[in-house]
Amino acid sequence: MKVFIVYCHPSEDSFTRHMRDAFIKGVTDVGHEYILSDLYKMNFKTDMSEEEYLRDAYYRNSPDPAADVLAEQEKVNASDAIVFIYPVFWTEAPAKLVGWFDRVWTYGFAYGEKTMKTLEKGLVLCSAGNPRERLESLGLLDSMKKVMLGDRLFNRVKEADFIVFDNTSREFGLREENWDQNLEKIYELGKNLFAGLK
Ligand SMILES: Cc1cc2nc3c(=O)[nH]c(=O)nc-3n(C[C@H](O)[C@H](O)[C@H](O)COP(=O)(O)O)c2cc1C
Repeated sequence: MKVFIVYCHPSEDSFTRHMRDAFIKGVTDVGHEYILSDLYKMNFKTDMSEEEYLRDAYYRNSPDPAADVLAEQEKVNASDAIVFIYPVFWTEAPAKLVGWFDRVWTYGFAYGEKTMKTLEKGLVLCSAGNPRERLESLGLLDSMKKVMLGDRLFNRVKEADFIVFDNTSREFGLREENWDQNLEKIYELGKNLFAGLK
């Protein structure tokens, strides 16, 4: 089976980069394939053009989406699952990933008479500098989950999960203390992504 990994972090000097590598290792160790979009490395354009806006706003199927958007949509439809790996920036995905949804989830692909396949699984893995208790008590974790699972993934996937790896700020010793254990968990998530599916 094949997973499309949408990875979004501006630096290789990051915990999130290690999350990406651990997940890929898990997936490939059990013989599955992956496609990776590294949005910063690709310099993926995330501002909508006026033409793109009007196409979506008027629910039009034409003109055809831009080549870089079509390439991303083809990666989705060539896969059985989609996984997003990113750091939380201001209680959201980085703007680059938000813009990826603006442009790639087009009318006629992700909504309307959609050509996007229903994927077996969707998984969101994000690192958050703050402790989970803070994100939960302020309702922030819940709102991030709602946006990703309840809107962006929604019924485009059969099953979805949102997992946050907290306390990853360089301000806290917990970043280092939890490092290996977190990466082991992510490796296992990669290994088990397609468990039970043929
Ligand atoms: C611009 C910016 C905004 C951030 N906003 C948040 C936030 O709202 N909530 C949070 O828990 N962490 C926040 N963080 C921390 C990141 O989510 C990330 O977990 C942290 O940078 C450590 O992971 P890394 O080494 O992969 O970058 C922010 C970091 C940056 C650089």
